[in-house]
Amino acid sequence: MPQTPSLPGTTDRRLAALLTLLSENATIVISGARIAREIGVSRSMVWRWVEQLRKLGVHVKGQHSTGYFLEKVSDILTPDLLKKRLKGNLFGKRVLHFFKTDSTNRVAMELGYAGEPEGTVVLAEEQTAGRGRFGRSWHSERGTGLYFTVLLRPKLAPAQAPLLTMLAGLSAQAAIQAQTSLAPELKWPNDLMLNGKKLGGILTEMHAEPDAVRFVIVGVGINVNQEKFPAELASMATSLRKESGRMNYRLELLVRLLTQFESDYNRFLREGAAFVVERFQSVSKFAKGRRVRVDTGAESYVGITAGLNPDGLLLVARDDGTLVTVIAGDVTEVH
Ligand code: BTN
Repeated sequence: MPQTPSLPGTTDRRLAALLTLLSENATIVISGARIAREIGVSRSMVWRWVEQLRKLGVHVKGQHSTGYFLEKVSDILTPDLLKKRLKGNLFGKRVLHFFKTDSTNRVAMELGYAGEPEGTVVLAEEQTAGRGRFGRSWHSERGTGLYFTVLLRPKLAPAQAPLLTMLAGLSAQAAIQAQTSLAPELKWPNDLMLNGKKLGGILTEMHAEPDAVRFVIVGVGINVNQEKFPAELASMATSLRKESGRMNYRLELLVRLLTQFESDYNRFLREGAAFVVERFQSVSKFAKGRRVRVDTGAESYVGITAGLNPDGLLLVARDDGTLVTVIAGDVTEVH
């Protein structure tokens, strides 16, 4: 399978190695000469890259004559650190990191067409055109949230691909719960909610033939350390930090999430839709008995959620007595 060794805009491997070296020796001064030796560049290059890291918001202290150190443990999602933590995992083989890109889903889609292998992860510290569902944008402030996309090549019928959205939601929910004391609510099909506000979302896109999926990309956005949101989002969005008052180490959360997702994904491939549908129904209080408004674009109606069908589609008992299956739509709770 053809492999793109690196992609325009991805973080230079040696720059990532510099960051890893500083992170692994946080608060310890490392001489420019040692850094140059260990990552295989000249001392003047080390100096230039330190300047670059500073511009990107990494707190590197010290100077050329004495050496450098990280003032505080940096929470940059370096591919080396992630790969080390995900050894043997499907998602630990190929990690592409961007300090800034338009959308990790856009990049992953391109990689899918280029024949990149299953399990490739595209990560960004910042997205300038993060995509949400229904053509909405996804606010992706630098270094505060998790913005990543995984590339999958499952043997599935196209109609089953949306189950991967729900699966990723379940894995994210479990990872958040294991790392924090918070228990986000899953709102069908792709929302992670906390106290009625949006904490995260998943956007799955695919390339398929009529009867088989070629590849699927699953893009995940989680608000982790945001302290505030732009005015237009402030009443709708929240972050783990806003809800708990505590900072979270994004790398740790990402490792948990991808570890959980690998095991959930394998189980789904082995056991089929029932595993996802049953688990989603048992975890999401929203899936049954909640009063909702459904907007499909073509129509809008109100009813009570009545569980999921065997394909994972939401059932809603409309006020006029009919039971409808929601194939795609914006579902919001009404009180
Ligand atoms: C939604 O709730 O509308 C889905 C939001 C998905 C956002 C993530 S952030 C990483 C990935 N790249 C994108 O452009 N979008 C997804």
